[in-house]
Amino acid sequence: MTRCWAVVVAAGRGERSGLEGNKVFFPVAGRSVLSRSLDALAACGRIEGIVLVLAGRDFAAYEALVRREGAHPLVVRAVEGGDTRQQSAYNGLLAVPEDVKLVAIHDAARAMTPPDVVLQAIGSAERYGSGVAATAVTDTVKRVDGAGRAVETLNRESLRTVQTPQVFWRSLVLSAHERARAEGFEATDDAALVERYHGAVHLAVSDEGRKNVKLTTPADFEEVERLILPNLRVGQGFDAHRLAPGRALVLGGVTIEHEAGLDGHSDADAAAHALMDALLGAAGLGDIGRHFPDGDEAYLGISSMALLAEVAGKLDRAGFRAVNCDVTIVAQRPKLAPYMDQMKRNFARALGMAEGAVNVKATSTERMGYEGREEGISASAIALIAAT
Ligand code: CTP
Ligand code: MG
Repeated sequence: MTRCWAVVVAAGRGERSGLEGNKVFFPVAGRSVLSRSLDALAACGRIEGIVLVLAGRDFAAYEALVRREGAHPLVVRAVEGGDTRQQSAYNGLLAVPEDVKLVAIHDAARAMTPPDVVLQAIGSAERYGSGVAATAVTDTVKRVDGAGRAVETLNRESLRTVQTPQVFWRSLVLSAHERARAEGFEATDDAALVERYHGAVHLAVSDEGRKNVKLTTPADFEEVERLILPNLRVGQGFDAHRLAPGRALVLGGVTIEHEAGLDGHSDADAAAHALMDALLGAAGLGDIGRHFPDGDEAYLGISSMALLAEVAGKLDRAGFRAVNCDVTIVAQRPKLAPYMDQMKRNFARALGMAEGAVNVKATSTERMGYEGREEGISASAIALIAAT
């Protein structure tokens, strides 16, 4: 597989959005445009690292975003952009390692890019050196004069609109940028530079590309919010296991020092099981008993983190991804606070989610009930998922 990095340009001002500050930090349906575009780009599984290009004035806003929504695991470098999109893309390209063959340049303002669009652009660049996300034109397009009157009808068969990602051999697009700088040539996308200095550019045309809108005006924000919200689904999960001496106590994938552990067929990680049921429930996929039957030898003593990763795969194949989740563990003893951060990291890793999107908490029941009498430990979870 040819190595591919991405340069995500986020250094604009977002003036046409009418928002105060850079539009990419604003949420649509509860998650920022920038986090959504990074997720969308990463979802195809082909991108190895991301260079994020930010305006100098926005580094503090980016740090606040990371605290709020979690760091994206693929963002390796953040570099400063320039006054134009072209300068920002160039600064990003300089930060891509030299031994990487392909680079996908992408607008942070595209929060809805379907994974297939990214894959097709990469596939084209792998074969031909260039692959630019594009769509056929369905409207009739007119050229107008200075007064806005139509003076010519263009042949739409020969027209395409192009978006990002625009994927190229790194050396090719870098040399085009360098020649454009030397000549003072400015264009609105990277393909225009490659066309000028290296000839025809390959397009990856797809109907899916119609979903790949660039959030530009207030109406775009409203439209995308309307597209996302109906695709959200919620699920709930619960599990309890009996405490037994001589068993390891595993919760959230962490082995915890204690005189007893949870009894069960697998590692009996009640927190992971509750979370799996919440995710499966949200997707309408039944429960863990159906997917990983108790009697099945394959699951004897298995790590529930491996099963959780399998659940993430099942969700993905059913066309969903987890947005956020929240787990509550009910245990009288031991004190779980010292292990909570590690549990959160384990869940986030198994599900391929940002840490900020996962929450784990614990409570005792003041000695009431079976948890209070230390006969067992229970956990419940809630998860929000979105159609991809
Ligand atoms: N961009 C950039 N550096 C610039 C200008 C734009 O990195 N100097 C990025 C934007 O952050 C955006 C992408 O290029 O992700 C596409 O540009 P556009 O949609 O025009 O965004 P803005 O320039 O931020 O918005 P506006 O033109 O409305 O001010
Ligand atoms: Mg702009």
